[in-house]
Amino acid sequence: MKTDAKICGMGHSMKRKEDPRFIRGKGNYVDDIQLPGMLYMDIVRSPYAHAKIKKIDTSAALKIPGVLAVIDGPTLEKYKLHWMPTISADTQMVLPIDEVMYVAQEVCAVIATERYIAADGADAVEVEYEPLPVMVDPLKSIAPGAPVLRKDKKDKKDNLAFHWEAGDRGACDNALAKSDVVASQFVYLPRIHVASMETCGCVADFNSAEGKLTVYMTTQAPHAVRTVFALVAGHVGLSEERIRIVSPDIGGGFGGKVPVYPGYVIAVAASVVIGKPIKWIEDRMENLQADSFARDYHMKVELGANKDGTMTALRIKTIADHGYTNASANPMKYPAGLFSICTGAYDLKHAFCEVDAVYTHKPPGGVAYRCSFRVTEAAHAIERVVDVLAQKLKMDPVELRMKNFIPTERFPYKSVLGWEYDSGNYPAALKKAMDIIGYEALRREQKEKRSRGELMGIGVCSFVEIVGAGPSKDFDILGLKMFDSAEIRVHPTGKALARFGTKSQGQGHETTYAQIIAEELGIPASDIQVEEGDTDTAPYGLGTYASRSTPTSGAAAALAARKIRAKAKTLAAHLLECSEADLDWVPGKFFVKGVPDKAKTIQECAFAAYTNMPQGMEPGMEATHYYDPPNLTFPFGSYICVVDIDRGTGEVKVRRFVAVDDCGNIINPMIVEGQIHGGLAQGVGPALYEEIGYDEDGNVFGGSFLDYYVPTALECPKWETDKTITPSPHHPFGAKGVGESATVGAPPAIANAVVDALSHLGVTHVDIPITPEKVWQLLRKAGAAE
Ligand code: CDP
Repeated sequence: MKTDAKICGMGHSMKRKEDPRFIRGKGNYVDDIQLPGMLYMDIVRSPYAHAKIKKIDTSAALKIPGVLAVIDGPTLEKYKLHWMPTISADTQMVLPIDEVMYVAQEVCAVIATERYIAADGADAVEVEYEPLPVMVDPLKSIAPGAPVLRKDKKDKKDNLAFHWEAGDRGACDNALAKSDVVASQFVYLPRIHVASMETCGCVADFNSAEGKLTVYMTTQAPHAVRTVFALVAGHVGLSEERIRIVSPDIGGGFGGKVPVYPGYVIAVAASVVIGKPIKWIEDRMENLQADSFARDYHMKVELGANKDGTMTALRIKTIADHGYTNASANPMKYPAGLFSICTGAYDLKHAFCEVDAVYTHKPPGGVAYRCSFRVTEAAHAIERVVDVLAQKLKMDPVELRMKNFIPTERFPYKSVLGWEYDSGNYPAALKKAMDIIGYEALRREQKEKRSRGELMGIGVCSFVEIVGAGPSKDFDILGLKMFDSAEIRVHPTGKALARFGTKSQGQGHETTYAQIIAEELGIPASDIQVEEGDTDTAPYGLGTYASRSTPTSGAAAALAARKIRAKAKTLAAHLLECSEADLDWVPGKFFVKGVPDKAKTIQECAFAAYTNMPQGMEPGMEATHYYDPPNLTFPFGSYICVVDIDRGTGEVKVRRFVAVDDCGNIINPMIVEGQIHGGLAQGVGPALYEEIGYDEDGNVFGGSFLDYYVPTALECPKWETDKTITPSPHHPFGAKGVGESATVGAPPAIANAVVDALSHLGVTHVDIPITPEKVWQLLRKAGAAE
């Protein structure tokens, strides 16, 4: 570490600056915001997955004292606000005029003086529906001749939202045909929910005297939302300089707070029409039923190899269920996100992947739940099929991985599907995980246990992530290039204020950004105030998701700080009456080479920037940097877990879990460990418990926490974490993102462990979530249930 504990730069496990307010219940979340005269909104939602709206009768609702208005589709139609674009440039109803397309769709909204009166009003609205045929199965929806769902789209003849592919199909087909063995597996990653602690919501405040709209909202991307609001509502006078989006404290986002949901738009429209602030906060069931859905990928995965285990080719065909509209937040050039990272950690010469995105009568899905745009799906596909191949070749899964890893000396490595991996050392991470867990001893233990009829499995996963979107030449959302920003102001007394285009949802940016600046300037991290999320003050940026903050705004922070350090050097030379060439730097001060006592601290330089600058120098000490990364960063890790399976109940118990992660140079080791712990828990959930399912009428299972099981500490083992450090060669301080690595790596490790435990019974694959019932059925079929 270059800095001492007082400065607390990179590498220090500084306690999180934001935590005192969180742990004392003093956070400022959207629902904490109270404005004078504020009204409340509650939404009437559809009980049908597909129905004609014959009539909306609001008379009983409007008779309730305190109910002031009901906003419906025709109300919004008057302002041409009943439809909106999605962030994937598809279209979505804000409120319907005549037809609903999924259960829990917004039908109309009741505005009242109190939250519970608004809820009573919503209950009292009577909607007459005529149920219509429902299509929930994407495989049927994509079949020729299926009834067309999106009748609003002129000339649409099928239910395909988009087709996307990467790679050379012919060469891949050829290589697979020539392979000695082909492991072929259908893998379904079910629809799941981000289930963040805080649901979605907003307070929309249109000040008609100033003509200014302020929206306090749960968004991970405030600037992008401001621009989209201006583009959508400019025609009713909401131009961008009159819109302020404030994203205060956020109780978890995980990608679910990137899209713009109808509730936000209705609240804004209601505030503009009524002229009062309107608060809308989803309840838990609305949140679980209407928005923030991820995954829903049906994948056919084929991996070819020679007899000796050398992988030859990978082919993946995917049908993606996007629900009623394509509202996923993917960069425009990559409608299926970064799925083409599916060759993972392996040196594959041939690969081809394709995705058909399909409309169904379900709420919009495709949220990148704690992952960089479909990386979780890609990692699950490759890491599962590698194990299927190992089983087929009767090879140890570790041996097969080691044989096919991209050789360490080949970085930067160009993958067959077009990515340039910046740096990596995959054997080192796997070897470390094996040493920590005692892999060989575990294999011996498994053999003994198996001979006694006990079910124990060891699962391995060596994943590669791709984070930090992105280079603007390839990455944009609705045309907005995916750079990010930092602005630093050093005050005369040497304290600093730093603002960013990203927005923390619990990741600890207030601490880690301060540490980056402390590292570069030597100003103690405790003297640096970090702010994000207010579009009136923060520099423009694309927000926080897909582990992009460290690779983009983190880099911008370092580069803005370096601009300030350059100015401080000129000031130090002026104060010390020497030339800049005679100065050396240690964190916090410039000194004359060879004369350490002849020095000026960064604080003295800051004071001089306002009180004693050289003639002609622009006063002040501020810098802004907009960082356009030259490439993404490629964090990676190797996870090994041990599971025990109860033959009586089919219950899977994760006994041990070793996670070795590599995110390059680390800013705050404690925060990184916390990110991994959280991510691992969010990997256990989908692996073993979580699924949002639908019956054939489109009714949702998993619409409350009674049916949607998120894991607690009881279901999680004591995590054993470690690291390797392989810096990114192109990032200003060698860091890669880390926020989502564990969510990506944990589910395949657990799934592989379960299959490993059951492999001697002829089991080659189990789709997640691996519930006790699924396992018990497999045991029964194999005659192994107790
Ligand atoms: O975009 P998001 O903040 O979700 O993801 P990230 O950039 O991976 O960062 C998550 C947290 O881990 C932030 O507080 C980072 O500053 C911290 N981190 C770190 O300390 N060292 C790294 N190499 C990467 C992230």
